[in-house]
Amino acid sequence: MLSTLSTLPEGYRALVVGAQGGIGAALMARLQADPRCGGVWGTARQPDAASQLLPMDLCHEPSIEAAMQALRVHGPFHVLINAAGVLSLNGVPPEKRLADLNAEHMAQVLAINALGPAVWLKHAVALLPRQGRCVVATLSARVGSIGDNRKGGWYAYRASKAALNMLWRTAAIEVARQRPEAVLLALHPGTVFSPLSKPFVPDGPEQPGLMHPENAAARLLAVIDTATESGSFKAWDGSTIEW
Ligand SMILES: NC(=O)c1ccc[n+]([C@@H]2O[C@H](COP(=O)([O-])OP(=O)(O)OC[C@H]3O[C@@H](n4cnc5c(N)ncnc54)[C@H](OP(=O)(O)O)[C@@H]3O)[C@@H](O)[C@H]2O)c1
Repeated sequence: MLSTLSTLPEGYRALVVGAQGGIGAALMARLQADPRCGGVWGTARQPDAASQLLPMDLCHEPSIEAAMQALRVHGPFHVLINAAGVLSLNGVPPEKRLADLNAEHMAQVLAINALGPAVWLKHAVALLPRQGRCVVATLSARVGSIGDNRKGGWYAYRASKAALNMLWRTAAIEVARQRPEAVLLALHPGTVFSPLSKPFVPDGPEQPGLMHPENAAARLLAVIDTATESGSFKAWDGSTIEW
């Protein structure tokens, strides 16, 4: 199945942050295969030697600024996607109970999942066209929904994604003043087989909401292509998730 972003202009340009991750790499591949796409760029903390990716660490603002500056000559970009994020960090799994909390660890998770993407957005906005439709999506997670939290646990990850959602919603209001057709989205990709989910998801066949990255990427791009409500929180199937 081909992913075609039909609501973006012919020759649209795309950027994927976290392009070597499970979902990020699948998004890159699908965008590269879209005949309407005029070019796809990606970032990674340590790009593979053979790749054309730009080095960028979400926890290091100078690297963000340098990468976004380097991309200016290729712009404008009509779709920007942040596909980076962590659940476990430095071998430490997400917390099951209050007794597991460690402020330093939580601060690092928050820095990667929420603060870094916001600082990236600060620099990436300049890549967007002044007029016409464009989309800036960040991968969030359903567990970042406060209203939908029924199981508890995963304190830092949940809090970081809730913070990310608030930052995206807030930015959507500001960005709309200069770029009324820009759509900012926080997206839940479903549960996706990837290095991030591996410790928590049993191997097995796909089922609704449990997908291989290629399939999740196709679903996410379909949502990106059709979404019109800036500042919304959507799942892989296009449904709206409560905050
Ligand atoms: N997989 C799921 O089931 C699932 C469910 C809900 C939400 N999500 C969200 O989807 C996104 C992608 O997850 P995934 O499953 O594709 O995970 P993944 O395969 O582990 O990829 C995560 C990516 O994040 C990047 N990253 C980590 N720290 C970074 C930093 N400081 N600066 C820049 N990049 C950094 C990693 O880059 P390096 O290559 O440099 O290490 C990696 O490419 C995450 O935001 C995750 O929370 C995933």
